[in-house]
Amino acid sequence: MKLTIFGATGGIGTQLLAQAATAGHLATAAARNPARVAGAARIVAVDLAAPDRRALESAVAGADAVLSALGPRSATDAGVVSGGTRAILEAMLTTGVRRLVVVSAAPVGTTPSPDRPAPPRRDPGDTFLMRHVLSPLVKRVFGKGYADLAVMEDLVRLSDAEWTIVRPPRLTDRPLTGVYRTAYDRNVRRGLSISRADLAHLMLRLLDEPESIRHTVGVAR
Ligand SMILES: NC(=O)c1ccc[n+]([C@@H]2O[C@H](COP(=O)([O-])OP(=O)(O)OC[C@H]3O[C@@H](n4cnc5c(N)ncnc54)[C@H](OP(=O)(O)O)[C@@H]3O)[C@@H](O)[C@H]2O)c1
Repeated sequence: MKLTIFGATGGIGTQLLAQAATAGHLATAAARNPARVAGAARIVAVDLAAPDRRALESAVAGADAVLSALGPRSATDAGVVSGGTRAILEAMLTTGVRRLVVVSAAPVGTTPSPDRPAPPRRDPGDTFLMRHVLSPLVKRVFGKGYADLAVMEDLVRLSDAEWTIVRPPRLTDRPLTGVYRTAYDRNVRRGLSISRADLAHLMLRLLDEPESIRHTVGVAR
């Protein structure tokens, strides 16, 4: 498959590129720092904070699927996931590319957004501990990031794309196992972490699972 990968220089994105190459896919990396990209068949320079429409369209055109593991490196990148994904969706619409797999986060299902001002108060996969202790704690620390991801999810859900939103819990740098649990439209029960390598594995696997289109997928080891 021809893939376009956003966030290709990050923790998940590096894994996406490496695993895509191993699986025989042809990957285009869309990156704001092209010198940091390793192992892409093609690299297109795109800063999603101020995207050049033509560069973005050339990155996406002809792809069978777009994968995004975009995320803020620092406070100066605040809002980049929703803003960047808006631009990616526009480029996909213009170039006729349909399939999109994006990374969100487990607490986002219960995070309010403009399109879902009153989301469910609890995710069906969350345990008592997750609902009453862990989730409020991480939301206090990472609330702004989750708010950005929630807006990103709105944009993706309301788009015409054939989307899948993946919601991982805490990410680790453990090695690839290919062994993890998934759950459609809810978080994985007692799922506390997943490695970036296994998350990338799932994102690539979902390209062969059309039943995941227009669903969120919870994942955890
Ligand atoms: N950390 C967790 O435990 C956790 C849990 C659940 C979900 N998540 C979500 O997963 C995301 C990805 O995780 P990760 O560890 O792979 O993140 P990461 O290593 O920080 O990678 C973020 C990627 O986004 C790119 N990026 C940022 N701003 C950009 C811009 N303006 N234009 C183009 N590219 C830009 C970065 O490019 P540069 O290399 O140029 O900076 C990098 O490739 C997180 O940001 C978060 O939203 C994280």
